[in-house]
Amino acid sequence: MAKWKKDEAYRKRAREAGYRSRAAFKLLEIEEQFSIFKHAKRIVDFCSAPGSWLQVIKECCKIPDCSIVGIDINYIKPLSGVHLIRSSIDDPKLKFQILELLQKPANLVLSDCSPKLTGSKAVDKERQLWQAKMSLHLALQLLEKDGHFVTKIFQSGEFRDFITHVKQYFNVVKTFKPNSSFQRSPEMYVIAKYFQGVVNLINQDAL
Ligand SMILES: C[S@@+](CC[C@H](N)C(=O)[O-])C[C@H]1O[C@@H](n2cnc3c(N)ncnc32)[C@H](O)[C@@H]1O
Repeated sequence: MAKWKKDEAYRKRAREAGYRSRAAFKLLEIEEQFSIFKHAKRIVDFCSAPGSWLQVIKECCKIPDCSIVGIDINYIKPLSGVHLIRSSIDDPKLKFQILELLQKPANLVLSDCSPKLTGSKAVDKERQLWQAKMSLHLALQLLEKDGHFVTKIFQSGEFRDFITHVKQYFNVVKTFKPNSSFQRSPEMYVIAKYFQGVVNLINQDAL
C-alpha cells in the first residue's frame, strides 16, 4: 500500500477507536507480541504527547489500582487516572518526581521519544539516539528487578551498540518493527524484559 494511503488508513482507524494518534497501534502490536503488561502495575511513559500510548496503557493495565505517569516536554491533554508531568527527559528532578508519584519502583518503562525532525537524517538519528539512551538511563534507575523497558530507536550505525548495551541489564532483549510503522521509517522498538536489578548499574557510565 502507498505510504500516504497506509498513513491515512491508520489515522482513520485511530479516529474511529478514539485514540489521540495512530501511534496507539504500535503499542498494541508490541503488547500482542511481547505481553509487556502482564504484571504491570506501575508504568512510566516517556514522551507521551498527545497521549495515545497512555490510552493504550489504561486499557492494557488490568490491575485496578494501576499507577501511570506520562511525561512530555509538550502539553498533554488530561486523562483520568493518569499523572502527567510536563518536563524534558533530561531534567535532573524528573526521576524524583516520578518516584514520588509511584511510591515504589516501576515495573514497566516505555519511551516513544522522537526529536523535531530537521530534514538531516544524520542529525535526527543522533538526537533520537540521545533520547533512547536517556530513557534507558532513567529506566535503570526507576525499574524494579524483573521489570520491562521498551524504547523507540532509529536505526543507525550505533543501533547494534545500543542493543549490546541494553543486554547488559535485561535478560531478554528483542527488536521489533510494528506493521503500523512505515517500512521506510528508521524507527524500531527495543523490547527489554526482566531487568536484572540495580547490582548491574555500575556499567551505566558506558552510555
Ligand atoms: C512520536 S511522539 C510520541 C507519541 C506518543 N507515544 C503517543 O502515543 O501519543 C514523540 C514525543 O516526544 C516528545 N519529546 C521530544 N523530545 C523530548 C524531551 N527532551 N523530553 C520530553 N519529551 C520529548 C515530543 O514532544 C513528542 O510528543
